[in-house]
Amino acid sequence: MNDSKERIAAELLAVRDRSLAYTEADDDLLVRQHSPLMSPLVWDLAHVGNYEELWVLRAAGGIEPIRPEIDDIYDAFKHPRKDRPTLPLLGPAEARRYIEGVRGRVLDVLDAIDLESADPLHRDGFVFGLVIQHEHQHDETMLATLQLSGQPGLVREGDLPQGRGGGPEEVYVPAGPFMMGTATLPWAYDNERPAHQVDLPAYWIDRLPVGNRAYAAFIEEGGYDDPRWWSAEGWQWRQRSGVSAPLFWVRDGDAWWRRRFGRTEPVPMDEPVQHVSWYEADAYARWAGKRLPTEAEWEKACGWDPEARRARRYPWGADSPDPTRANLGHRAARPAPLGAYPAGASAYGAEQMVGDVWEWTGSWFQPYPGFRAFPYKEYSEVFFGQEYRVLRGGSWAADPAAVRTTFRNWDYPIRRQIFTGFRCARSELV
Ligand code: AVJ
Ligand code: FE
Repeated sequence: MNDSKERIAAELLAVRDRSLAYTEADDDLLVRQHSPLMSPLVWDLAHVGNYEELWVLRAAGGIEPIRPEIDDIYDAFKHPRKDRPTLPLLGPAEARRYIEGVRGRVLDVLDAIDLESADPLHRDGFVFGLVIQHEHQHDETMLATLQLSGQPGLVREGDLPQGRGGGPEEVYVPAGPFMMGTATLPWAYDNERPAHQVDLPAYWIDRLPVGNRAYAAFIEEGGYDDPRWWSAEGWQWRQRSGVSAPLFWVRDGDAWWRRRFGRTEPVPMDEPVQHVSWYEADAYARWAGKRLPTEAEWEKACGWDPEARRARRYPWGADSPDPTRANLGHRAARPAPLGAYPAGASAYGAEQMVGDVWEWTGSWFQPYPGFRAFPYKEYSEVFFGQEYRVLRGGSWAADPAAVRTTFRNWDYPIRRQIFTGFRCARSELV
């Protein structure tokens, strides 16, 4: 195997280790549905194997189906998450056996494939990038399920760097064009293409994500009870849901505690806020006299290098993420304190744009001009419109393989179980 194939094999192994670690639990925990928002963990486990079978074995490898009769069960479009516990799912042991059987043949396909082929599934190992990123995204989803379950364990508590105070509240991004999306990253999804020029007026964007201390001040000052700060839909949601703090926060007198993977601890005031809906982020921003950044503003502040007039793969440049630059890959099951990553700053000086928390943007999930669905419409295209808001940057639970300045995530504006926070922006005053 050449270098690239070795790298692909190593990535396949790493993501599978992660999936198996998250499902190393009693069968009961794996088959139970912990929330109607989430699948039973054992569904995710077999689904990633079935996806690998569909794309690597059948589509790219031309191999006959191993278990065509289970395709329906693991088709996310046929069965909404809330219904998945009623399906005849493979049990945990059977699911592990199935995905291991698929994986053996996947390595044979990798061995045989021509990475310089004209076939877009084969070229640069695209189909392997597809399944590796897919499995990492499901692993993050499994962590959200585990967090909702309230079960302790399965959680890493590695060291994170200290926060640092001081520094400007906002960074300035002068007016001008930048290239949004990518034409060159071989494993980028269809929704990140094509690269296209976007010309933006000048704006300010927060140097850091909004922290728990600032968010607690919003609560203290009655932010949840004042319709002035909320969009009409957001206010309706706030009234209907009765929400009055981030998900997993618990008030104790004057203090805030939070539940995190089965334990209860004081809310660390110097961490980015997480588990807020788009509506809460939008209301906070208005209260703060700002707004959410558009997706284009977010990407320019994160990835554009105005001197080289080129987009960077990561905020700091081309080097792979490391523990001094970003909190990614579930090093610890939490965001790092604000200011922990000066070495991860973007060209404009924005920090913690990748890692820690996903960040809500003000934009709907829409196609870029010239978008073409590849390799299938159900990855991105069916979600375009005015139903989903774009999330950027990746959380502490996101793996570096599925994080880059151009990566786009999306969810319903009411969702809070995801590891999501936000930062604010504002137009330059003229
Ligand atoms: C991009 C995270 C919204 O989890 O629904 C997983 C990723 N696509 N399987 C999702 C995905 C197919 C997707 N998100
Ligand atoms: Fe999936």
